[in-house]
Amino acid sequence: MAAGLVLTMALVLAAPWCHAQAEAYTVVGDGIPEPLSGAVGDATRGRAIVASRQQGLCLLCHAGPFPEERTPGNIATDLAGAGARWSVPQLRLRVVDSRRLDPQSVMPAFHRTEGLVQVGAAWQGRPILSAQQVEDVVAFLASLRP
Ligand code: HEC
Repeated sequence: MAAGLVLTMALVLAAPWCHAQAEAYTVVGDGIPEPLSGAVGDATRGRAIVASRQQGLCLLCHAGPFPEERTPGNIATDLAGAGARWSVPQLRLRVVDSRRLDPQSVMPAFHRTEGLVQVGAAWQGRPILSAQQVEDVVAFLASLRP
């Protein structure tokens, strides 16, 4: 009885965030071949997400072809040319969950909600980037060629 009530309340409380759950995906080799939830990425939106200090935060760690960014990070690879180094499925997995490839990676898993520690209450159960945003970022990265 009490357990049922707690379960019902948990479901009600979780409901507003259901749409923001991480999408299921299938890893093949070191990539994710299928677009998340079938979304079609937009490279222009993806560039804005990557360069954003609110959303992607990619430039805290990475440099890249962003003349407007004066103090990019330098703890990770330069993103310039990423589309020539990696296939689209490889880029998708690196953005979704780079720890699948290197458990020690400091790069955040941008589309994962399970197994994370120290997640703020407002972010619990919500991926950092939505499926659409991941696809936008992947489309932008794929366009980065020398
Ligand atoms: C906290 C630091 C950090 C942040 C933030 C971060 N990354 Fe990374 N990223 C890394 C590190 C370190 C690597 C090197 C491989 C590894 O350790 O996983 C990496 C690897 C990569 C790679 C493959 C590396 C290559 O050789 O080109 C791509 C692509 C990438 N990151 C894209 C992104 C994008 C896009 C974002 C933002 C949405 C982002 N990263 C945010 C640290 C970060």
